[in-house]
Amino acid sequence: MHDRVSGRPSTHAALAFYDDQQPPAGDFLADVLDGFSRTPKQLTPVYFYDAKGSAIFDEITALPEYYVTRTELGILDQIGSELAALAGPGAVVIEPGSGSSVKIRKLLDALSVPAAYVGLDISGEHLESACQEIAADYPNLQVGAICADFTEGLDLKHLTLESGRRIIFFPGSTIGNFEPEGARALLSGFRKAMRPGDAVLIGADRVKDADRLVAAYDDKAGVTARFNLNLIDRINDELGGTIDASALRHKAIWNAEKARIEMHLIAIRDLHFTVSGHEFQLREGESIHTENSHKFTPESFTSLAKSVGFDVLQTWSDPADLFTLHWLEPAAKA
Ligand code: AVJ
Repeated sequence: MHDRVSGRPSTHAALAFYDDQQPPAGDFLADVLDGFSRTPKQLTPVYFYDAKGSAIFDEITALPEYYVTRTELGILDQIGSELAALAGPGAVVIEPGSGSSVKIRKLLDALSVPAAYVGLDISGEHLESACQEIAADYPNLQVGAICADFTEGLDLKHLTLESGRRIIFFPGSTIGNFEPEGARALLSGFRKAMRPGDAVLIGADRVKDADRLVAAYDDKAGVTARFNLNLIDRINDELGGTIDASALRHKAIWNAEKARIEMHLIAIRDLHFTVSGHEFQLREGESIHTENSHKFTPESFTSLAKSVGFDVLQTWSDPADLFTLHWLEPAAKA
C-alpha cells in the first residue's frame, strides 16, 4: 500500500494513501476579469460550487423539474447486477470530482467485493471529507485520495492499490459542462490513464423536448435562479464587486444548434460596476453567459467516445430515454 502522504498525515489516518498532486489554485479574480472582458460576457461554472452554491445545487437535484439526478439514480438502481458482472470482483473505483456520495454508494454496493475507492478532486478539503466518509462506512474497502485537477488528465502512477479492473466513475452529466473540444480532451485524459480491461462508467443527459429542458434549468420555485445569482454574490463578496444583482434576471435557453442549455444573467437596465477596481458595463438586455449544459443523443455520445479511442460496450437508459449511462472501454486495436 502506498503512503505518499502529504501535509497533514494524522487527518488522513483512515485513508490508504493521500496523493497531493498540488493542483494550482483557481484564480477567481483573473477568470472573472477575463470573462467580463469578452463579448458577450461570460463566467465559468466551476465557481458555482462554494459552500452556499453546493447547498443550492443539492436543492436543485430535488426539484420536480430537474429530472437529471433522480433519473440517473433510478438507472443505477436497476443495473447493479449488470455492473457487477462487467466489473468483476476486486474492482478499483476511481471518481474524478468525487461529488454525490449517494451515487458512489449505489455503485460500491452493487459491485462484487470492490477492492478500493479512490476519490480525486481539486479541493483537498472536500476530497478528504468525502473519502473519510466512504472509509468509515466501508471498512473492507481500501480508500485513497488524489488531490488533482481532473481536466488536466489523470496521473494514476502512485495508485498502487493493485487489484481488479479500474473503473472511472463520472456520473451526473458533468461532461455536459464542457464544449466539444474540452469534452474530448477530458475523455482523452481518462483514456490515457487506462490499461486494457479498465472502464469508464459515465452519465450523459439526453437531447429531448426543449420545454422540458428549459424547465429543468428555470424552475418555478426559482432555485436555479438563486444558484446562478450566487455567482454574482461571490464576485461582490470575495472580489470587492459592486454588481447590483437585483438588476440581473436568470434565463435558461435551449441552443438547438449546439445541443445545449445555456444559462445567462440578463441586465434589466444599463449597469456600471467595478470588480477589484476594474470598470465594466452591461447594457440593458445584455447577458453574462454563466453555464453550458450540453445534451447528447446516443449517436453524438458514441461519436465523442470513439473519437478519443473508446468503444461503447453497453448503455442503460430510463424508460423515458431522458438520461443514459455508458460503459466505455479502450477500443480494441485494429
Ligand atoms: C452539475 C453540470 C450536471 O448541467 O445539469 C444544474 C449543473 N446547473 N442546474 C447540469 C446545473 C443548473 C448540472 N451539472
